[in-house]
Amino acid sequence: MKKATIIFGSTTGNTEIVADQIAENMPGYTVEVVYVTDAKDDAAVQAADLVVYGCSTMGLGELQEDFIPYYENRMTPALLKGKNVAVFGLGDKENYEDYFCWAADILAKKVQACGANLVCDPLKVDGEPDDNRAAVAAWAQAL
Ligand SMILES: Cc1cc2nc3c(=O)[nH]c(=O)nc-3n(C[C@H](O)[C@H](O)[C@H](O)COP(=O)(O)O)c2cc1C
Repeated sequence: MKKATIIFGSTTGNTEIVADQIAENMPGYTVEVVYVTDAKDDAAVQAADLVVYGCSTMGLGELQEDFIPYYENRMTPALLKGKNVAVFGLGDKENYEDYFCWAADILAKKVQACGANLVCDPLKVDGEPDDNRAAVAAWAQAL
């Protein structure tokens, strides 16, 4: 069985719900789901065949705050070069149309700049997780 590690940041819990939905839809993998501030070392990323990063967009087009230190200090070529990585994000197109799910794009750019292999387009979840279950499941099953 391959190993996947999902690392996510969430302010009101929506990204956590989606992280768990993704984990439930990866039958070929043993999945570890880790809150970003609980990722104290890089062992779970180093051991993973696939890393999945998830983050909501807050402020105006900014990363969710708990994810910022990880983004700035831990997402490095030393860790991610050659690694298979997927990215997902939560956002709100109605209220933040000009900044919709920017966090997902910020993370995607960063992993590519680190030399990782972005395995698919970022998943962008608009609104409530429960309204997006089918799209989340389909994205996860294709990983
Ligand atoms: C203060 C605030 C700012 C937000 N800014 C954005 C934004 O710039 N772009 C976007 O797509 N969504 C934005 N959102 C919507 C959130 O990303 C969305 O509610 C998401 O589901 C929250 O996920 P979380 O509970 O995992 O943090 C914002 C929400 C709040 C409360």
